[in-house]
Amino acid sequence: MRSPWTLLQKEYLAMLPINVMDYEALARAHMDPGAWDYYQGGSEDEVTLRANRSAFERIRLRPRMLVDVNTIDMSTTVLGTAVSMPILVAPTAFHGLAHPQGECLTVQGVGQMGTLMTVSTVSTRRLEDIAHVASGPLWFQLYVRHNLKASEVLVRRAQAAGYLAIVLTVDTPVLGKRERDVRNDFYMPSHAHSANFSDVPKARILEVFIPTWQTVDWLRSLTSLPVLLKGILTAEDALLALEHGVAGIVVSNHGGRQLDGVQASIEALPAVVEAVAGRCEVFLDGGIRRGTDVLKALALGARAVLVGRPILWGLAANGQEGVRHVLELLRAELERAMQLAGRPTLSSIDRTLVKL
Ligand SMILES: Cc1cc2nc3c(=O)[nH]c(=O)nc-3n(C[C@H](O)[C@H](O)[C@H](O)COP(=O)(O)O)c2cc1C
Repeated sequence: MRSPWTLLQKEYLAMLPINVMDYEALARAHMDPGAWDYYQGGSEDEVTLRANRSAFERIRLRPRMLVDVNTIDMSTTVLGTAVSMPILVAPTAFHGLAHPQGECLTVQGVGQMGTLMTVSTVSTRRLEDIAHVASGPLWFQLYVRHNLKASEVLVRRAQAAGYLAIVLTVDTPVLGKRERDVRNDFYMPSHAHSANFSDVPKARILEVFIPTWQTVDWLRSLTSLPVLLKGILTAEDALLALEHGVAGIVVSNHGGRQLDGVQASIEALPAVVEAVAGRCEVFLDGGIRRGTDVLKALALGARAVLVGRPILWGLAANGQEGVRHVLELLRAELERAMQLAGRPTLSSIDRTLVKL
């Protein structure tokens, strides 16, 4: 009889990852160390980066027993768009660091799983090229840091290409201090340039524009697409977001890459959900690595979660198939967790499922 250790080794050698963290190890082995640190790192002491994980570990579940969990239904809608599961893809920059085909490959893996991808402003493929090969719904993440005119062009291009919403990132008036990148003297290699700006003069891209609440009004006047704000962490700002007519809020600390020392996003979620009181959809990202993390976020009021780094790990380890498999692993874990928790539908997942 083979020992469990032999089996584990065999699995590892055959590169059959059984969870998201296995993809993390595989991706690390595949990537250039500087690019790896750029993906992996947070800002300053990485307190918030670690908190995003440890906060999930502190939340305990209260399962119900003897519920009929033969059939699990996790299909849902986000801003009216049907998706196969409440697990979406967060915007992350520069997929070209993980794979030469970058976002064009990611989006196909995501489409195979029937869910939605948010494409970053700073993608290494043009937003039109990504939309061209997509089979599922897309949102466009907007940084207005660069220049308002360039941003206006991007929004119009995204709308024309069929993107369904604009996700304005609001936690990045300046970049957080990412010390791994400073120490590595990390510069984006030429194959991973920001493709959406290829026709904008470099000096204009480097212009600094700091968005305010007026920028939200400007954006809403510019487009008929629904606008989400990504990076809201307080009830105060959630209420302001509603006043400014947003369709959705993404509770996020940018994966611990902006202001170090802020709450874990899962800790910030309940207050935002309470303030919003059903007036817009609330999403969460930051530290989602297990199906049970998704379950906890849904129990605390998220409509769906977004996944950041694990998608990059899947892409780096095994291209389109890696992205698909990362999402499939999370989906299978969520399904099992819903069964074990006695919550066979999304509507049966409520606050009584968690003990904070
Ligand atoms: C390498 C990397 C690049 C990112 N680029 C962007 C970006 O271009 N726009 C944005 O709004 N957020 C960006 N984010 C933040 C993610 O959208 C998301 O908030 C975060 O990664 C979620 O946490 P997780 O990685 O723990 O899942 C980036 C995150 C990482 C790790």
